[in-house]
Amino acid sequence: MAFTPYNRPVRVAFVGLGRVYDLNVRAYLGTPDVEVVALVDPSADRRAQRQADWPGAAAFPSAAELAASGVKVDAVEALLPAYLHADGVTELLGYGWHVNSQKPMCNDLAEARQLLDAAKANDRVLRVMENYLFFEPLRRLKSVIESDEIGEISGYHVKMVGTGNGGWDVPFSSFEWQMEQMRAGRGIMIFDDGWHKFSTALWLFGPVREVRAWIGNTHYGPGVDVDAPATLIWEHHNGVRGVWDMTLATDMYLRSDYYTNDERWEVTGRTGFARVNRITGRGIQEPSLEVYCDGQLRSYHALDDDWGSSFRDSGRHWLRWLHTGEGPLMWSAAEAVDVLRFALAAYESSAAGSIGVDPASIT
Ligand SMILES: NC(=O)c1ccc[n+]([C@@H]2O[C@H](COP(=O)([O-])OP(=O)(O)OC[C@H]3O[C@@H](n4cnc5c(N)ncnc54)[C@H](O)[C@@H]3O)[C@@H](O)[C@H]2O)c1
Repeated sequence: MAFTPYNRPVRVAFVGLGRVYDLNVRAYLGTPDVEVVALVDPSADRRAQRQADWPGAAAFPSAAELAASGVKVDAVEALLPAYLHADGVTELLGYGWHVNSQKPMCNDLAEARQLLDAAKANDRVLRVMENYLFFEPLRRLKSVIESDEIGEISGYHVKMVGTGNGGWDVPFSSFEWQMEQMRAGRGIMIFDDGWHKFSTALWLFGPVREVRAWIGNTHYGPGVDVDAPATLIWEHHNGVRGVWDMTLATDMYLRSDYYTNDERWEVTGRTGFARVNRITGRGIQEPSLEVYCDGQLRSYHALDDDWGSSFRDSGRHWLRWLHTGEGPLMWSAAEAVDVLRFALAAYESSAAGSIGVDPASIT
C-alpha cells in the first residue's frame, strides 16, 4: 500500500475502554503530535470514566455511530476483547481508519486472511502491537545476544508462573470473555499471554521450524478452566532451541502493579548466560537483567523495568511511524500471522500427542 505520512497531529479514536486502556493510553497522554478525538465503548460507565482524560473527545457506544457522526479519524487504538478482533478490526479498517490493534491478532488463519484482505482493500495500515518488544530489559537482552557477549547461543528457557493473588483488579467482565475464548480452544495462558512469549521468541531468534507442546488444563469450577500446566519446546531455523514452562501457583501472592505473572527469560550461550528476572510482576527483585560471563556476573540496575513503560514506548513507536512511515511496525499484520502460526502449531502438536509441528505447515 502507498502510505502517506501525516505532517499534522494524528486524529485518534480509542475503541474499547476497558482494563488495558490504562496501559495503552500512556503513549498518548502528554504527546503533542496526536489529538484524541473520539472514545468508543458500549459501556456508559467506561465512556464517562475515560472522558476525564480527554474532555474534548466525542464519545460513542459503537464504532458505527462514530463513523456516521462526521468526526474525522485517522487511526484507531483497537482495545477490543480478543474474540471481537477479527470482525471488529475488519469493521474499523472498513471505515478507512488505520488500526493499532491489541494482540492476539485473531483466533485462526481464516480470520487472519480476513484482516489482511480488509487492510489491503481499504488501503489502510494494520499493526498488531507487541509491547514486550519495547520492554527495556528484553531489548537489552537482545543486544547482549547480538553483541556475542555470551558467545554463540545454544538455547533458552522461558519460565512463567501464573498466580491468583496480588496485582491490579481485573473486572469480571474481562475474565468472562477470556473463559469464552478458553472454551473456543484459545486459553488465557497459552494463547492470550503466550502470544507475548511467541512474539519475543521470533523477535530474538527468528523463524521457528518445529514446535512440540503438552498443554494441560486446570479446572477451577463450572466454566472456569485455565490452560496450564503446559510445556512447550521449539527449534528455530538457526538451530537454537527454546522451552517455555508454564506453571500455576494459584494462591501465591505476587507483588505486581499489573497482572500477577511471574516471568523470566534465560538465554544460554557458549561462554555465559543472560537472564531477565521479571517482566509484568515483581517476582525476583534482583536487577532486571543479569549477564554472567568468565566468572563474573554483571547486573543492570538502571533499566526502565516498569512493564507499563513498554506500552508507552510501543504506542509512541506507532505514532512516530504514522508521521514518518519508516522502519518496522513491530508488528505488521503479516508478521503477526507468524506469531499466530506459532501458537496454532503448539495446539496442533498438543492435540496430536506432542508431535513436532512446523508452523509453516498449518493451513
Ligand atoms: N499487551 C498486553 O499485555 C495486554 C494486556 C491485557 C489485555 N490485552 C488485550 O487487550 C484487549 C482488551 O483486553 P482488556 O483486558 O482491556 O478487556 P476488557 O474486557 O477489560 O475491555 C474491553 C472493552 O471493550 C468494550 N467493548 C466490547 N465490545 C465493544 C465494541 N463492539 N466496540 C467497542 N468497545 C467494545 C468493553 O465494554 C470493554 O470496556 C484484548 O485483546 C486483550 O488480550 C493485552
